[in-house]
Amino acid sequence: MQHGFADATASVYCLRMERLTIRKASASDTDRIVELFAGDPGDEASGIAGSREKAIAFGTGMVRLPESPQGWRQTVVAEMDGLVVGIIMAGGDHKDMRVTPQLVYLALRIFGPLGIISLLRRLRARVRVQPKTPDGAYHVAEIDVDPASRNKGIGGALLENAEAEARAGGYRLMSLTTSTANPARRLYERHGFRVVETRTDTAYKRYTEIDGRYLMVKDLR
Ligand SMILES: CC(C)(COP(=O)(O)OP(=O)(O)OC[C@H]1O[C@@H](n2cnc3c(N)ncnc32)[C@H](O)[C@@H]1OP(=O)(O)O)[C@@H](O)C(=O)NCCC(=O)NCCS
Repeated sequence: MQHGFADATASVYCLRMERLTIRKASASDTDRIVELFAGDPGDEASGIAGSREKAIAFGTGMVRLPESPQGWRQTVVAEMDGLVVGIIMAGGDHKDMRVTPQLVYLALRIFGPLGIISLLRRLRARVRVQPKTPDGAYHVAEIDVDPASRNKGIGGALLENAEAEARAGGYRLMSLTTSTANPARRLYERHGFRVVETRTDTAYKRYTEIDGRYLMVKDLR
C-alpha cells in the first residue's frame, strides 16, 4: 500500500471554516476505524451477512484481524477538532477479496458451522457483482464518513487526498466500485470518475434488494 504523504505527516484542508487534517492512521485509531467501517452497515452488508447485527460483528472482526486489509495500516483518516470523522482505504496494491484461514475462522465464530453454508451462498452472489479491479490502478477500497459529519466535503477531501497520492506515486488510473443504489456515485462523478462496467445478479438482488455494482474509473493522465 503506498501512501504518498511526502513528509510522512499530514495534509490540512479548510472546509467551510473548519480545519480538517488528513493523516495516516495509527494503531490507536483502530476503535474509531471499527466504528466508521462497521458501525452503520448498509443494505448490502446486512443482506449478505443475513442481519444488521451480523454485518456489524463481521465488519468489526475484519478490521481487527492481524495484518487486515481493512486494518489501521491501510487506512488514512480525516480528523476535525481532534475527532476522526472519516476514513479511506486506498492504494496501488489492491487485491480483490480473498478467503483466508483467518477470515474463515472469523466467519465460523460469528455464523456458526451451519450459518456459514448459507453465508457462502450469499458471498458467492456478492463476488459475482464485484467488477475486477483494473490492473495497475490506484484503487479506493473503502470510504466512510461519520453520519453526523456528512455533506460537508469530507468525503471529497479524502478522495482528493487519495488522488494526490496516486499522482505522486505515478499511477495513471484510479478505480473504485460502488453499489448501483449508493448515492455516493454522484460524489464520485463530481470528482471525475465515470462508470465503465455494471454487474447485476438476481440472487444478489434477492439478498440485498440492490441490482448490482458499478466499476468507476478516473484517468489521471
Ligand atoms: C459516501 C460518503 C463517504 C460521502 O462523504 P461526505 O463527507 O458526505 O461527502 P461530501 O460532503 O464530500 O459529498 C457529499 C456527497 O455524498 C453523496 N451522498 C450523500 N448522502 C449519501 C449517503 N447516505 N451515502 C452515500 N453517499 C451519499 C452525494 O453524492 C453527496 O453529494 P450531492 O448531495 O451533491 O449529490 C458518505 O456519505 C458515507 O460515508 N456514506 C456511507 C458509506 C458509503 O456509502 N461509502 C461509499 C461506499 S462506495
